[in-house]
Amino acid sequence: MDLKKVERVYSKYASMYDHTFGKVFQQSRESAVRGLPVQPGHRILEVGIGTGEALPLYPSHCEVLGIDLSDGMLEHARRRVDEYQLDHVTLQRMDAGNMDLPDDHFDIVMAAYVVTAVPDYRVVVDEMIRVCKPGGRIVMLNHFSNGNKVIAAVEKLISPLCKHLGFRTDLALHTVLEGTSLTVASKQKVNPLRFWHLVECVNKKNGHQPVFANGFATNGHVS
Ligand SMILES: C[S@@+](CC[C@H](N)C(=O)[O-])C[C@H]1O[C@@H](n2cnc3c(N)ncnc32)[C@H](O)[C@@H]1O
Repeated sequence: MDLKKVERVYSKYASMYDHTFGKVFQQSRESAVRGLPVQPGHRILEVGIGTGEALPLYPSHCEVLGIDLSDGMLEHARRRVDEYQLDHVTLQRMDAGNMDLPDDHFDIVMAAYVVTAVPDYRVVVDEMIRVCKPGGRIVMLNHFSNGNKVIAAVEKLISPLCKHLGFRTDLALHTVLEGTSLTVASKQKVNPLRFWHLVECVNKKNGHQPVFANGFATNGHVS
């Protein structure tokens, strides 16, 4: 998949997204945002914001920037911002793999169902790390390839088909994290079928040692 195809596919989905993926995954978005250690004045970046299902969940005492490649998805997100009068939210059309944003700028970077939907997860994760402050949180909500050999074989088999639909099924979490400065702070299974994970990472770039803020989910075990 290239950027043009991603944009085309998701702009086509936009009008039905809220009634399908939007609804099915809403509970996990709520868990993800509720578990964030958001403090007044924090800057939050959500990459691949889609139709903005998570936007009303962020507290109004933080600043949220949502980016997406698809104008179709962003149009719905803009309507949501207006409907809920989310004055603390800004939206921009931007490639998550080449963000026009400064280094070390955000306290929290969120990617909900995105790392398997982008053409190149490596550049996107590197960009998320770059724009996130040292010691900041990077949260990924996603399906990651299963450790079970049979399920992993099925995921690999169906992945080429799923790519036409705008996502892949064969990406493992350890592959995403390999060689990065990210350390998993907690990981839990979410959504009814438990095929998806909510993964909270600390950005330990520049050798930063994390200090867990009040309310941050340090209780999750890494399985
Ligand atoms: C499966 S949807 C997830 C949307 C939303 N985060 C949610 O929770 O429903 C993936 C989104 O990532 C966006 N996307 C894919 N590649 C991107 C890129 N390189 N830069 C920015 N957004 C991208 C798509 O346009 C789409 O809106």
